[in-house]
Amino acid sequence: MKNLKQKTFTFLFFLLLHCFTLALCLRGDSEILVRVKNARLDDPNGSLNDWVSNGESNSCNWTGVTCDSQNHSIISIDLSGLAIYGGFPYDFCRIRTLQNLSLGNSFFNGTLSSQPLSLCSHLRLLNLTLNYFAGEVPEFSPDFTELEVLDLSANNFTGNIPVSFGRFQALRVLSLSNNLLSGSIPSFLCNLSELTSFDLAYNPFKPGPLPPEIGNLTKLEILFLAGSHLVGHIPDSIGKLVALKNLDLSSNSLSGEIPSSIGGLKRVEQLELYDNQLSGGLPESIGNLSSLLRIDVSQNILTGKLPEKIAAMPLDSLNLNDNFFEGEVPEVLASNAYLQQLKLFNNSFSGRLPENLGNNSDLLEFDVSTNNFNGELPKYLCERKKLQILIAFNNRFSGSLPESYGECDSLNYVRIKNNQLSGEVPDGFWSLSQLSFLEMQDNRLEGSVSPSISRARGLTTILISGNEFTGGIPANICELHNLSVIDVSGNHFSGELPTCITGLKKLLNLRMQDNSFSGEIPSSVDSWTELNELNLSRNRFFGTIPPGLGDLPVLKYLDLSGNSLTGEIPAEITKLKLNLFNVSNNKLYGKVPLGFDSELYLSSLLGNPGLCSPYLKPLPRCSSPRPRHNTWYLAVVLTLCVVLLLGSLFWFFKPKYLAFGRKPKRAWKVVSFQRVGLIEEDILLSLKEDNLIGAGGTGRVYKVKLTTGEIVAVKRLWGDTQNPDSKVVFKSEVESLGRIRHRNVLRLLSSCSGDDRRILVFEYMENGSLGDVLHGEKGGGLLDWPRRFTIALGAAQGLAYLHHDCSPAIVHRDVKSNNILLDEEWMPRVADFGLAKTLKRDVGEGPGAMSRVAGSCGYIAPEIALSPPAEGSDNGIGCCGDLDQLIDPRMDPSSSNYEEIEKVLDVALLCTSAFPINRPSMRKVVELLKDNKLSSKIILQ
Ligand SMILES: *[C@@H]1O[C@H](CO)[C@@H](O)[C@H](O)[C@H]1NC(C)=O
Ligand SMILES: *[C@@H]1O[C@H](CO)[C@@H](O)[C@H](O)[C@H]1NC(C)=O
Ligand SMILES: *[C@@H]1O[C@H](CO)[C@@H](O)[C@H](O)[C@H]1NC(C)=O
Ligand SMILES: *[C@@H]1O[C@H](CO)[C@@H](O)[C@H](O)[C@H]1NC(C)=O
Ligand SMILES: *[C@@H]1O[C@H](CO)[C@@H](O)[C@H](O)[C@H]1NC(C)=O
Repeated sequence: MKNLKQKTFTFLFFLLLHCFTLALCLRGDSEILVRVKNARLDDPNGSLNDWVSNGESNSCNWTGVTCDSQNHSIISIDLSGLAIYGGFPYDFCRIRTLQNLSLGNSFFNGTLSSQPLSLCSHLRLLNLTLNYFAGEVPEFSPDFTELEVLDLSANNFTGNIPVSFGRFQALRVLSLSNNLLSGSIPSFLCNLSELTSFDLAYNPFKPGPLPPEIGNLTKLEILFLAGSHLVGHIPDSIGKLVALKNLDLSSNSLSGEIPSSIGGLKRVEQLELYDNQLSGGLPESIGNLSSLLRIDVSQNILTGKLPEKIAAMPLDSLNLNDNFFEGEVPEVLASNAYLQQLKLFNNSFSGRLPENLGNNSDLLEFDVSTNNFNGELPKYLCERKKLQILIAFNNRFSGSLPESYGECDSLNYVRIKNNQLSGEVPDGFWSLSQLSFLEMQDNRLEGSVSPSISRARGLTTILISGNEFTGGIPANICELHNLSVIDVSGNHFSGELPTCITGLKKLLNLRMQDNSFSGEIPSSVDSWTELNELNLSRNRFFGTIPPGLGDLPVLKYLDLSGNSLTGEIPAEITKLKLNLFNVSNNKLYGKVPLGFDSELYLSSLLGNPGLCSPYLKPLPRCSSPRPRHNTWYLAVVLTLCVVLLLGSLFWFFKPKYLAFGRKPKRAWKVVSFQRVGLIEEDILLSLKEDNLIGAGGTGRVYKVKLTTGEIVAVKRLWGDTQNPDSKVVFKSEVESLGRIRHRNVLRLLSSCSGDDRRILVFEYMENGSLGDVLHGEKGGGLLDWPRRFTIALGAAQGLAYLHHDCSPAIVHRDVKSNNILLDEEWMPRVADFGLAKTLKRDVGEGPGAMSRVAGSCGYIAPEIALSPPAEGSDNGIGCCGDLDQLIDPRMDPSSSNYEEIEKVLDVALLCTSAFPINRPSMRKVVELLKDNKLSSKIILQ
């Protein structure tokens, strides 16, 4: 009995003691958390404000902390995405029960060292992805026997992969991608027999082979070694990876044939082998991969025929473009029940496409362009009503467009130019409701454009030149408000141009040349504010040239030649800054207006027997005008004199009469370029510190809300107004910007210059400058790749406009990220023309003005800025290591299309070629960027 009592007592005693120490421990662990937080972490957002040790608060419900549900010990700390700064918090590992430590997607920096890290050897998971850690990857002590997940991806780790990485007995997931690792991929990693995910992609490794021992990792499900400088053959042993689901060896320099052992990857769903130098044919054994969904072997040097067996597989995506495949596409491809994406472009395929293609699967994207296909287009392509993209240009397809395409309401993007298609276009095809881009030029299509085209509401581009179309252009086309390009040239169209066509406000190009259009050119053209090119040449237009054309702000190409136009050339047209002007071969008469009266335009004027000019040689001299009705003439002159006299008298008395109670006359000169409710007083009162949003090299910028509610950015230029330098800057900005309207160039709304200040009023840009977004506090994380690409393309378009479409051309001379502003939709605008130089044609000002190098670090052509050498430094011009080193580590890797990034980089490098002659024009740059986008991925709206 006593014995029992004693036992109970002892038991209770130990139980109590245990509870006590456990409580102490828990207390101690909370204190560790708080201590580490206070000593090591900087938490500007206060995400960890609930980490306070006050004896009562239970650390188990603190942000990021997870406890064991049984004994309430801390097992996980997850601070990912909390925007915390600091070095690696080794002391967290003093919590002996801690298993998981996740610090991903934050601002941790500094290096890791082996010694203190060994504190953490009891961890099962360590995730440091997307941080700013740098320095060599540390050795991990042999005590890390429980580590299962190690994710160090997307940091700046350098050096070799340490030998100790071959010793993690329990490691399942290893991710080191997107770092700066050198050395080669070590074969000792193939000792990690538990690995299911092996990811070393996008590191600047030394070129080396894929170790054959990789075949030992038989539990592997993911093998991701894209962009890792792999060379040599794909080892046969790869076929031993029977559990593999995703194999990505893309963007390396692998050569030789794809081993037929690849047929051993029984579970593989995705094979990404694109962008290598693989040769030979596709092994028949691929046909055994019964789980395969996606295969992309594009951009290799593969040859041979497409194996029947692959064609028979249940793939959802088959991507073979940019190889040298030849022969016919096997009929069985058409029986595939899952195929959604079929890309065979840029090969040498020939023959007919399988007739049933699309009949058995939900085909979304079809691109067979640039091959030697012939025969008819497969009529079932859109049988499932899913097809969005139909690309078949540069082939020899013939016959008519299948009637079924006229019911393909999902279709968005059509490019079938340069084939031998004939017959009428199915009526429904003109009116597909999702269609935005229609390119069918250079075929033998006939019939007329259906009036039902008005139902294709999203249509932006119609390119149908070089066919045999007849009839008129239906007036319903005017309902397509998104139309920006219409090219119907080189057909047999006739009839009048619907006058409502002048209501298409977004129209950039209207090309109707080489048809039989007749009637007059519509006269009220003032909504064509974006029209850049108008070509009506070689038709049967008559009547006069509408003077309103002279007011179109961006018209650059005007070709009205080869018609029957009469009347005089309106003097208004001379206001245009045209790159091309042609009114030859009409029936124009009268005096050539001043401005066209030069040798330069002679060929544009010839063939009009009635035109005369006092100077221009082959044209007859004009006979001096003789007043015909002398009395009328006198009456008009007299009336004018009276009106003038009355007017000046009124003007003389009016100010005195009105002077009472009025503010003193402004010493301001206001020039408004666009309509905006500008109240000068509004602006003056708002130029105070509270409203300051930035200061640049040339002035301070304020955000001002006008009484109309409109928000504008007001730039007050530095320096006193008497300073000739600031005068130059002011004049330069006003001159350059006042004329410009382009969606990628910052609009100058107004300018005011007074005795004591000079002010420019711009549209306000919600998201500030690209420089701030990239380098500011928020960090470049806001900008994912698609957004960055859009910005690059937009900026290039803005510059291309300045260089090629402005007359005289404008050279910015201070292009840098701080001068690219972003609107609320992150669309870029080129800004800050303080240094811009218009390239005037008269050489008077000459290169003298050009040599005034000013500005800051950005892109200035090296010859102009001979003194600041462009290598290295901030501008990033003197590069060239590896793509991975150049990619901003803060960019969400899932959004990054590395192929695209590389191509954009290529364009950038072209632009910085040592010899100016090798640098592409800005227009070319835009083309290259756009092509890149199109060829790698077509953006659907
Ligand atoms: C955490 O738990 C403590 C006591 O267990 C409680 O007082 C506190 O309100 C909790 N905090 C949160 C954020 O749930
Ligand atoms: C690491 O954490 C990030 C979130 O920060 C997560 O997306 C990623 O999947 C984690 N890595 C592993 C291997 O679990
Ligand atoms: C880490 O970042 C902090 C603040 O962001 C900075 O002050 C510190 O110098 C950085 N440390 C290293 C080693 O880069
Ligand atoms: C990462 O490394 C690159 C190249 O060495 C360097 O320019 C960059 O500043 C580094 N980034 C961080 C956050 O350490
Ligand atoms: C690992 O791979 C190599 C080469 O493929 C082979 O010789 C070796 O036997 C394999 N080791 C194990 C444990 O399977």
